[in-house]
Amino acid sequence: MSDQPAASPQGILSRHDERYQVTMYRRVGVEGAHALESYRAAGGYEAARKALTTMTPAQVIDEVKAAGLRGRGGAGFPTGVKWSFMPPPDGGPRYLVCNADESEPGSFKDRYFLEDDPHQLIEGMIIAAYAMQVTFGFIYIRGEYYEGYQRTWEAVKEARAAGLLGQDILGTGFSFDITVHRGAGAYICGEETALMNSLEGLRANPRLKPPFPAAAGMYGRPTTINNVETLTSVVHIVSKGAAWFAAMGSEDSKGTKVYQVSGPVKRPGVYEMPMGATFRELIYDFAGGPTVEAKAFIPGGSSTPMFPWEDRFLDMSMDFGTLAKNGSMLGTGGVIVIPRDKCIVDALYNLVRFYAHESCGKCTPCREGVGHWLPRMYQKLVAGLGRPEDVDLLENVVGNIRGTAFCPLADACVMPVQASLKWFRDEYEYLAANGRPKYQKNDWWQA
Ligand SMILES: Cc1cc2nc3c(=O)[nH]c(=O)nc-3n(C[C@H](O)[C@H](O)[C@H](O)COP(=O)(O)O)c2cc1C
Repeated sequence: MSDQPAASPQGILSRHDERYQVTMYRRVGVEGAHALESYRAAGGYEAARKALTTMTPAQVIDEVKAAGLRGRGGAGFPTGVKWSFMPPPDGGPRYLVCNADESEPGSFKDRYFLEDDPHQLIEGMIIAAYAMQVTFGFIYIRGEYYEGYQRTWEAVKEARAAGLLGQDILGTGFSFDITVHRGAGAYICGEETALMNSLEGLRANPRLKPPFPAAAGMYGRPTTINNVETLTSVVHIVSKGAAWFAAMGSEDSKGTKVYQVSGPVKRPGVYEMPMGATFRELIYDFAGGPTVEAKAFIPGGSSTPMFPWEDRFLDMSMDFGTLAKNGSMLGTGGVIVIPRDKCIVDALYNLVRFYAHESCGKCTPCREGVGHWLPRMYQKLVAGLGRPEDVDLLENVVGNIRGTAFCPLADACVMPVQASLKWFRDEYEYLAANGRPKYQKNDWWQA
């Protein structure tokens, strides 16, 4: 491992380990990496040139399919398959949307692509647009990411001036342009159909599916939505080949992935590793291990069910299939470490308040259940005013919300609650019976 981890301007560490193939994140934290000149000097835009001049659109899609790339926005849908859902061109507009909303607690990987290496994302979008014969792209950036927004806009302007965006890209006859849009700072804007509404100037409520975006997305036209990391992965698949990408990772999850670690660890940060490395490697080798005794960890962003701090879970491979088999999800790969001596009920109250605040209110289970019932029940418990039967009641309420809401936001709230009840029910019962928590309140994790 390199002696000195690269530190981004914000102090988030990105450790590069020679044992691992650091590809997408190799320029994060490097001074001046965001500029076109620097990106080109490092071989930037050669993958786009290769795709546009030596491959057909269908060949690019086949390459991405063969690589086994799965979406990095949370759901892990196979990217090449998603691209092939786009109907044949009919002469009208077609859109590519890059989802850079990144609002889930524990997730902060896309931010550094935008701030430190925006040309890599633009190159990925050019290749994706060519593969799907898309005419226009949007990058939708979380409202709070102002520096990322500025850097990305600058990069789009530089790319336009260099003939990498706009009409007749690289003299190939292919035309594609991008605009950059700031979100207003709402978690629901990351849900793909709510995002499209937001881009169209409407309130960011989710849309009914079907129709899926490939059939009727932005302005009713064929649209594909991909995460920042998904699109940057494509650059390296085209440049080094599907076989190179597919050789890394586990059986159902290929390539490298940018994981994040937060909570009480020595080196919280962003780390690129092959998929299928273990939580133990990430948390101990890269993040330096917990600074206090830990009792649990959240594996993939706040909406993914937590695991207790046990060897069998720490030694699990960080891939889509393994996490699903064990009752959780890989999500965005944002690992959050939870200390032993902190109250789990209070930690979940904090999380529930986040989801209650972010519920868009469109459907009843989420508006009433997530928006009102859950925060009130937690408030009562945490204040020491709970009754022993409130633990069963809480379990009943979350069980009734699960699977009934219009979009996955409500499940994203109730799944972590259910996991905390599964593993740490004793803490809930103690608090409800005694009016005081078994462990102290959290001062380390505030929304
Ligand atoms: C409430 C909610 C928030 C989401 N936020 C994001 C986000 O910030 N970034 C993201 O890429 N995907 C997010 N997603 C997933 C997107 O709906 C979509 O699946 C993803 O952008 C597809 O890209 P991918 O196939 O490249 O993963 C969110 C989903 C939900 C339900």
